[in-house]
Amino acid sequence: MDLYEYQAKDLFAEHGVPVLAGEVADSAEAAAAVARRLGGPVVVKAQVKTGGRGKAGGVKLAESPEEAAAAAEAILGLDIKGHVARRVLVTEASQIAAEYYVSFLVDRANRTFLAMASAEGGVEIEQLAVERPEALAKVAVDPLVGVDRAQAVEILRRGGFPAEVIEQAADVVVRLWEAFVAEDATLVEVNPLVSDPEGRVLALDGKVAVDASAAFRQPGHAAFADVEATDPLEAMAAERDLNYVKLDGQVGIIGNGAGLVMSTLDVVAYAGARYGGVQPANFLDIGGGASADVMAAGLEVILADADVASVFVNVFGGITACDAVANGIVQAFELLSQRGEAVDKPLVVRLDGNNAAEGRRILEQAGLPRLVQVDTMDGAADRVAELAKAGV
Ligand SMILES: Nc1ncnc2c1ncn2[C@@H]1O[C@H](COP(=O)(O)OP(=O)(O)O)[C@@H](O)[C@H]1O
Ligand SMILES: [Mg+2]
Repeated sequence: MDLYEYQAKDLFAEHGVPVLAGEVADSAEAAAAVARRLGGPVVVKAQVKTGGRGKAGGVKLAESPEEAAAAAEAILGLDIKGHVARRVLVTEASQIAAEYYVSFLVDRANRTFLAMASAEGGVEIEQLAVERPEALAKVAVDPLVGVDRAQAVEILRRGGFPAEVIEQAADVVVRLWEAFVAEDATLVEVNPLVSDPEGRVLALDGKVAVDASAAFRQPGHAAFADVEATDPLEAMAAERDLNYVKLDGQVGIIGNGAGLVMSTLDVVAYAGARYGGVQPANFLDIGGGASADVMAAGLEVILADADVASVFVNVFGGITACDAVANGIVQAFELLSQRGEAVDKPLVVRLDGNNAAEGRRILEQAGLPRLVQVDTMDGAADRVAELAKAGV
């Protein structure tokens, strides 16, 4: 989960990484009020989860509360690379002597952590990495040792930081590492880390991604959930503990096992090309259990999607055999019709694997309305795409 800059800076502050005072605002008046409270010049910054805001006109200096209001007016509603700014951060303006770059991230390829540092901060780091890779130091961090002051000095030295800045910045880097570990982050990035004319080192920008799989031991991270930006169907699925991702197509997909669901998306997209470009409407992995409750919850979310014209249930029976899944489907139909949400879209079911024959017999016998069985995955994909085209 990516955080907004203001959330990243709140975490930085908690871990002793120096940041300037600031508050978020969602209107020009609120921005002016924050500027008045802070006193002096401020910087008004679009809160969007993408970089390059400066270049896109999403970062503006304001000398007075009136200017802060005007800056907020210009930034609110601004579209930056497909992200619309709904809030701005109004923060103290810094006198910048020099801009640097530091980050910690998970280095999956090398199965370790990586520190990156450069004395040429402020610019887009991806560009620097391509154009002048020698200016960006990459230092592996042993997770069992971590980053102490000596290691921090080494990282900054390799990044080409001037000696007098290293003194100050090393403490900041140690704290940044502590934040990275304590928050179960997969990325903490400060670009720019600046030194000011008084020699203070400050994080002027902050990018943090936290590992959603660590949510169970990070209760504080729940507050970062982006309620407005979350798709309502995804929110509905999350409430039901379903592994669901909304996509743009018309064919609802339910499968068991992430790999099977991924290939189901592929075969449906492939078959859909024959029917005017019909596409999968979602990813939904109901996992191994596939009980009636889970099946009902899955169907409920998929049928709540107004774009869905047909549904493909693709199950490979394993430990949970096909007869159990078939019973789950029958019971799910009953559950939904009791709730007044009877299945009203065509459903194509493909059962294969353990006890497939028995599963198919159960569905046959139940005679569920609008349910068609197809034995092969490709055949089922073709049928469900055809039905979607007919239903759209
Ligand atoms: N509080 C601030 N005071 C002065 N200058 C700032 C401040 N925040 C950002 N800037 C300037 O704006 C540039 C872009 O801001 P930044 O927060 O890095 O956004 P982005 O990386 O999305 O462009 C920075 O490199 C810095 O020069
Ligand atoms: Mg930046």
